[in-house]
Amino acid sequence: MKRFVDIPSLAFCLLAFIAVASASETTPKPGPCCTILSQAGLGDRLLYPQESDYEARIGSYWSAGARLTPHCIIQPVTAAEVSRAVAALVADTVCKFAVRSGGAMVWPGANNIEDGVTIDLGNMNSTTYYANNNTARILPGARWQSVYKTLDAFGVVVPGGRVGHVGVGGLVTGGGISFLAARTGMVCDSVVNYEVVLANGEIVNANKETNSDLFKALKGGSLNFGIVTYFDMEAVASPRIWAGMTVYSEEDGDQVIDSISDFNHKMEKDPSSSSTTYWQYGHPSKQTVIVSALVNTEGVEAGPIYDSFKKISPILSSQRMTNMSDIASELTQPEGYHQMWFALSFKNDKRVMKKAVDIHSELVEEFKALTPDGDFYTMWVLQPILPLYAKHSAAKGGNVLGLDRVKDNIILWLGALGVKGAETEAIAREKMIRWTADLEQYAVSLGVNNEWVYLNYADPTQDPLRGYGVENIEFIRATAKKYDPEGVFQTRATGGFKISNVKKQDLGHTKDEL
Ligand SMILES: Cc1cc2nc3c(=O)[nH]c(=O)nc-3n(C[C@H](O)[C@H](O)[C@H](O)COP(=O)(O)OP(=O)(O)OC[C@H]3O[C@@H](n4cnc5c(N)ncnc54)[C@H](O)[C@@H]3O)c2cc1C
Ligand SMILES: *[C@@H]1O[C@H](CO)[C@@H](O)[C@H](O)[C@H]1NC(C)=O
Ligand SMILES: *[C@@H]1O[C@H](CO)[C@@H](O)[C@H](O)[C@H]1NC(C)=O
Ligand SMILES: *[C@@H]1O[C@H](CO)[C@@H](O)[C@H](O)[C@H]1NC(C)=O
Repeated sequence: MKRFVDIPSLAFCLLAFIAVASASETTPKPGPCCTILSQAGLGDRLLYPQESDYEARIGSYWSAGARLTPHCIIQPVTAAEVSRAVAALVADTVCKFAVRSGGAMVWPGANNIEDGVTIDLGNMNSTTYYANNNTARILPGARWQSVYKTLDAFGVVVPGGRVGHVGVGGLVTGGGISFLAARTGMVCDSVVNYEVVLANGEIVNANKETNSDLFKALKGGSLNFGIVTYFDMEAVASPRIWAGMTVYSEEDGDQVIDSISDFNHKMEKDPSSSSTTYWQYGHPSKQTVIVSALVNTEGVEAGPIYDSFKKISPILSSQRMTNMSDIASELTQPEGYHQMWFALSFKNDKRVMKKAVDIHSELVEEFKALTPDGDFYTMWVLQPILPLYAKHSAAKGGNVLGLDRVKDNIILWLGALGVKGAETEAIAREKMIRWTADLEQYAVSLGVNNEWVYLNYADPTQDPLRGYGVENIEFIRATAKKYDPEGVFQTRATGGFKISNVKKQDLGHTKDEL
């Protein structure tokens, strides 16, 4: 449904006045921020509460906890419209706004807002491949499923998300871990050019030659500088891949941990292979299983690096020769839970992995008792991060993630818990905070903890930017100041992780080497 469209501008002003004057009378009512956007000629890009398209967009956030209800949603279709929206909001209102691409980030407020406007890039979702320079121009609202589908037809791929419904904008600005990480580095390292809307509405490009500081800062720097309106990404050939999910019984956990550890040690010599393994309690099966996504991006079937995994009999396995869009659709995770995600990292140490699994078992038992219908959901992921990733990053111009300080093979832990209902979420978050602290404390006690926390997995009670190290933090701070001197992306554009929240006095303990 369209509102305020095709009405002469005098009427706009009148409506604006009425909207302001009667803002407290009935709900829901567009706030003045929405009226300003309408006056800026963007009326037919606005969605309001109770419209079916609005409700559908709110419902499309993966985590139920992220389904806040903004005064209106604006869905620009071009960078010029993003620019007009930002300029109007910044200059003519005191409104706060959120930025959303795929809407996969789980915590309330990361990508949406209760008291303000959400800039929803979902309609900017095309992928165009240019064979002449082997790059793909990918718009931020695209989901990886559609990116891979487009690129599969050309026999190429770009590093990206492993789950099809995840979005491009958030994943790439937060760093990005892909099946290709040991070949090409973090996902952001494959970006050769960004188009960005700055706080003053200016549309700029950022690449090695132009705005090169912004180019680097955007590689992991989250929503601190502007809104990316496209990513030019370097592609790699991808005729066939060997991929699938291999499911093991919970009883085989120790052997799976042995396999993860062994794989991690060998991965540097076989960078086309990857293993991503998670413990998962699911509804309605009400069982914990272990799932390993085993993928070789050059189509080598079950190479020797998987020998240790091969010794364990799986419950089932879908390993096969296929393509990226196919595996991305298989790895899809259930939507609609109030999700809490926490991240840590530690050296490739089996004791910590076992501790993580013990905590998972404890969690499952507690939540079985706490939720009578047993309807909750976990995803407890262990995945490798190698110094090799950072070498690729450095070769491509570097990023701000600080992984070049990591001198060992490390394991990135993601603890995800999804529950039904906001009340259960509140209880669950407290428990997750405690469990995460326990795991971290255990790793610290063994001297194997690593301060790097992956931003795209982190809870807002964590401080992922701090783990980037002092040099990167100060670089992000200076770059944010240069491109956004008024601090719009610190105070007005909510969401993401803000550099202004990283306090100078807290930085005493960040290390040069991890
Ligand atoms: C099921 C699932 C699987 C996942 N798998 C992976 C994986 O394989 N690898 C991995 O690295 N991560 C993975 N993630 C995490 C993922 O990287 C983050 O959730 C990421 O934020 C998702 O991107 P999005 O566009 O959907 O995010 P959104 O939720 O839309 O945005 C996330 C953040 O980025 C900001 N943002 C979004 N678009 C822009 C833009 N254009 N310019 C500036 N800032 C922007 C938002 O304001 C917000 O703060 C997964 C998440 C889920 C839920
Ligand atoms: C882009 O978004 C539109 C509107 O939601 C949708 O109809 C279309 O299928 C999407 N395109 C791609 C490539 O995903
Ligand atoms: C690649 O080529 C296309 C088509 O010529 C062009 O529009 C695009 O800007 C180029 N991309 C890069 C990153 O140079
Ligand atoms: C990718 O794999 C799927 C599943 O096998 C198949 O349907 C699709 O046609 C493949 N895409 C291409 C471009 O080959």
